[in-house]
Amino acid sequence: TITVDPAARGAEIADTMYGVFFEDINRAADGGLYAELVQNRSFEYSSTDNRSYAPLTSWTVTGGAQVVDDAGRLAERNRNYLSMSAGSAVTNAGYNTGVSVREGRRYDFSVWARSADGSMLTVTLQDADGTLAPARRVTARGGWAKYTATFTASRTSATGRLTVASTGAAALDMVSLFPRDTYRHEPNGLRKDLAEKIAALHPGFVRFPGGCLVNTGSMQDYSEASGWQRARSYQWKDTVGPVEQRATNANFWGYNQSYGLGYYEYFRLAEDVGAMPLPVVPALVTGCGQNRAVDDDALLRRHIQDTLDLIEFANGPVTSTWGGLRARMGHPRPFHLTHIEVGNEENLPAEFFARFKEFRAAVAAVHPDITLVSNSGPDDAGTTFDTAWRLNREAGVALVDEHYYNSPQWFLQNNDRYDTYDRGGPKVFLGEYASGGNAFKNGLAEAAYMTGLERNADVVRLASYAPLFANEDYVQWRPDLVWFNNHASWGSANYEVQKLFMTNVGDRVVPSTATTTPSVSGPITGAVGLSTWATTAAYDEVKVTGADGTTLFDDDFGQDASRWTHTGGGSWSVQDGQYVQSDVSAENTMVSAGDTAWHDYDLSVKATKRAGK
Ligand code: AHR
Repeated sequence: TITVDPAARGAEIADTMYGVFFEDINRAADGGLYAELVQNRSFEYSSTDNRSYAPLTSWTVTGGAQVVDDAGRLAERNRNYLSMSAGSAVTNAGYNTGVSVREGRRYDFSVWARSADGSMLTVTLQDADGTLAPARRVTARGGWAKYTATFTASRTSATGRLTVASTGAAALDMVSLFPRDTYRHEPNGLRKDLAEKIAALHPGFVRFPGGCLVNTGSMQDYSEASGWQRARSYQWKDTVGPVEQRATNANFWGYNQSYGLGYYEYFRLAEDVGAMPLPVVPALVTGCGQNRAVDDDALLRRHIQDTLDLIEFANGPVTSTWGGLRARMGHPRPFHLTHIEVGNEENLPAEFFARFKEFRAAVAAVHPDITLVSNSGPDDAGTTFDTAWRLNREAGVALVDEHYYNSPQWFLQNNDRYDTYDRGGPKVFLGEYASGGNAFKNGLAEAAYMTGLERNADVVRLASYAPLFANEDYVQWRPDLVWFNNHASWGSANYEVQKLFMTNVGDRVVPSTATTTPSVSGPITGAVGLSTWATTAAYDEVKVTGADGTTLFDDDFGQDASRWTHTGGGSWSVQDGQYVQSDVSAENTMVSAGDTAWHDYDLSVKATKRAGK
């Protein structure tokens, strides 16, 4: 029996309650949300980004063309360019299966070029079946200048190639092809279907640009005495201004980021979808497996100043330095920045707090209306998390970012997580969560959990699923909310759940009680699987115990091997009460007989391994 008291007033639910968290993971930016169709357009890919990369990754060369890094470059932070000899050509393979075009749509080509003698550049778009649009020609003459042409696709193809051939000696950089039909037809714009999937959620906020992406790597930048730095932390000043003058950088997730999608574009996206922008700046402490605190006061001052400059970039008058840049980029009106997060998932709470407080004091002195968001580290259900929360409380922090990735069962069992949170303490920003899959059951578990978030909307002020996007051919992390390739995109079951909640945000909670909590019961049958990577090993027992201590499965290998079936290489047998594997060069899975469907269950598993690696 559910009892509802319509007259009682529960917590108010803010319009900003549900938002999105965009991180450039799974190639979510280049080859994804950023609509550029040419991969490695500025020849900046480097083995620092990924060991398999080189400046000509994604390009093939015919004739004499090579990448050069010298004083003849187009811009200080755009180091490389392509030097072409007469009669040479270069072809770009795009992302996924190639350059994707649709019949009848227009595509804007542009290139920066210089040619002392004057060179005719012939630009073609074709796939294995032939031409995709009539060729275009531009003549490059003199110093660096931008040349443009427009294609109209005569056929639809997802396997296109873009080729630039030169009659004379020429230098090329920023070889670019954009669909005319970007989201809201904005220049240097976003891929329409992906941006529309964000807009359809009616997000209350957009958190960007990460995630682990933000903090990790060197905290230096180009202008420091340290000189040229690749693999820097994500620093917003690298990502603004004319695209041909922006830096590129190694991405924490193992590829290159062009920064064509930079802070200006993120602010514009947030504004376009009616959301509050919520940038995350590096804290000079790095989590995400690195657990390193940078001790350099001058560097800390510079990062704090960068944060103050970020506020000026977003909100300052057009007469200010950074507000002026925003205006020159096309947005004289302010972006109404109100919240900035410092750091992401910090595993060194004490070191982080020392720095966070300095950021907060400096920002409060000039912009008391800006809220600085802190964090709690990953929810390890242990000391780091507890220490971080204690420090957050002691420091009177306004909003604390929590992250957790867990099983559907965990989400169902922890619906009451926030019922007991201190009402007088910091508020919660649930910046990242997901229940481990994109199946319907995951969406359902998350939906159930979100009712707990809403019931506690006086404590949980913001919440966003993570990660948002995955390019199906470049996946580092799953599950993800929205999937895509170079020509299509689709939302997951989890996306539909988010949409349901996000497009139906209530004004306040109506308190209710239930006499019993419905439960599901009945027998569940299952199989036990054991996957190993080992050359030789022996196991003497596999035991599975239910959460209540009941033994659900126990095999001490006193029997024959017929209980188990194998996949993978090597050989397996039962010998002297042990399960022995040998010469295993590939993953082996042994599965006990019975129902081989997977069931989610709260189990602890004990396996004893006697030998081997
Ligand atoms: O969402 C993927 C990653 O998960 C984020 O980069 C990080 O914050 C978390 O560990």
